[in-house]
Amino acid sequence: MGKDVIIACDFAGAQQTFDFLDRFTDKKPFVKIGMELFYAEGPEIVREIKRRGHKIFLDLKLHDIPNTVEKAMRVLSGLDVDICNLHAGGTIRMMQAALRGLTREDGTRPLLIAVTQLTSTDQESMEQDLLIEKPLDEVVMHYAENAKKAGLDGVVCSPLEAGKVHARCGENFLTVTPGIRFADSEAGDQKRITTPAQARTNGSDYIVVGRPVTAAADPVAAYQRCIEEFIG
Ligand code: C5P
Repeated sequence: MGKDVIIACDFAGAQQTFDFLDRFTDKKPFVKIGMELFYAEGPEIVREIKRRGHKIFLDLKLHDIPNTVEKAMRVLSGLDVDICNLHAGGTIRMMQAALRGLTREDGTRPLLIAVTQLTSTDQESMEQDLLIEKPLDEVVMHYAENAKKAGLDGVVCSPLEAGKVHARCGENFLTVTPGIRFADSEAGDQKRITTPAQARTNGSDYIVVGRPVTAAADPVAAYQRCIEEFIG
């Protein structure tokens, strides 16, 4: 798969999502479906968006005992999405089980990527709440290496970390990066951000863009701008 822009469809329900997607009459964008929409609408929303011709990153961030994750991934593999994810914190064994579950009888499977440490976790909360006392950067890289050892395809990370992840885990190990803002747009609650153009320079494979597109006056134009800056 080549570089692409993934729109985070952080909408509360199906109608709002379809109203948004209906605007894209030309190229059907790659979309991310997260927990809010999936829990509200169930797997049918995934099937319907697939029927409409979109590629899908199903962002459900699984984290449980290996056996449970394997069985859950087996169910998700039937939805025919393009990318699934889980928490690397569930251990290498859990990630290996997830890969087994996701792999269909014919050997095909969606890409599987790992969340390392959430961007909402900072050094202080990691030390105090999780009793992890190493530097956050090192923990992120270690989790990325664990994901690679388990056979996963890549990680979700900040675009600022994409170069370092590639240096440690190889150029083919995918970096999927949220935290994208145009030079002239609001950062909102995101802290460690780059523009689509900077993400390209840093070597991101996929950028995940939410509000700069979903809340734009002209979402199709904002999406086009992402494509032009990130892919050219
Ligand atoms: O609206 P915005 O561009 O900030 O949306 C970014 C999307 O990426 C959201 O769906 C958010 O949950 C997700 N995300 C993130 N940071 C992470 C992991 C996921 O912003 N570390």
